[in-house]
Amino acid sequence: LSPQDLHGKKIMITLGPTREYFDKARFWSNPSSGIMGASLAVAAALRGAEVTAITGPADIALPSMIQRVPVVTARDMFEAAQDIFPTQDIGCFTAAVADFRPPACSTGKFKKSGETLSLTFEPNPDILATLSNAKKSWQQTIGFAAEAQDLEKNAALKLAKKNLDLLVANPIDEAGAGFASCTNRVLVMDRHGRQEAWPQLPKTEIAWRIWDWISM
Ligand code: C5P
Repeated sequence: LSPQDLHGKKIMITLGPTREYFDKARFWSNPSSGIMGASLAVAAALRGAEVTAITGPADIALPSMIQRVPVVTARDMFEAAQDIFPTQDIGCFTAAVADFRPPACSTGKFKKSGETLSLTFEPNPDILATLSNAKKSWQQTIGFAAEAQDLEKNAALKLAKKNLDLLVANPIDEAGAGFASCTNRVLVMDRHGRQEAWPQLPKTEIAWRIWDWISM
């Protein structure tokens, strides 16, 4: 039987990629599978939490005990998270949010002209940083970070800058870790300075251990 150590907790999880449309036919995105977020959602629900998943366009199934709020763009995800987070005990931000968006195309579809097409991207809101820096004393936030270099140093900086309770960081350039993989190798650190490097594990197992850490 699952422990019911998250009973009575409300948990919001963002997962999957976001899509930022260039025109009616094309978008800017990333290969996030939503597996880490879905694993956390299922594990938390099994352990008694009331879970709401804000899902970007990922091909991932969730059981009906998890409330699903589907979104497409980073701005949609931000709006949904701003609505939901104030009533939540824990916010868990696994989504691979597009940091930039192209400008809206006025003609509906870009046409070929033989010329170079230049676009100026605009920054999207940082959902986690915004909500986490304004959280109440009884709320906790969990962030994720994919780092190309200096994993430990950059993770510690992000933990502080985004005012997180827990940060889960992984290297982006490793087989069996990161995007669209069923396994990951992560470094976990919390706001009290506790830190652990876990070996390569299934994301389902990482999810279970993250809730062990939170409910300690
Ligand atoms: O700063 P960086 O993108 O590396 O931070 C990653 C963390 O921040 C992840 O938890 C991700 O879900 C969250 N994030 C967000 N909104 C953004 C960018 C990142 O919530 N625009």
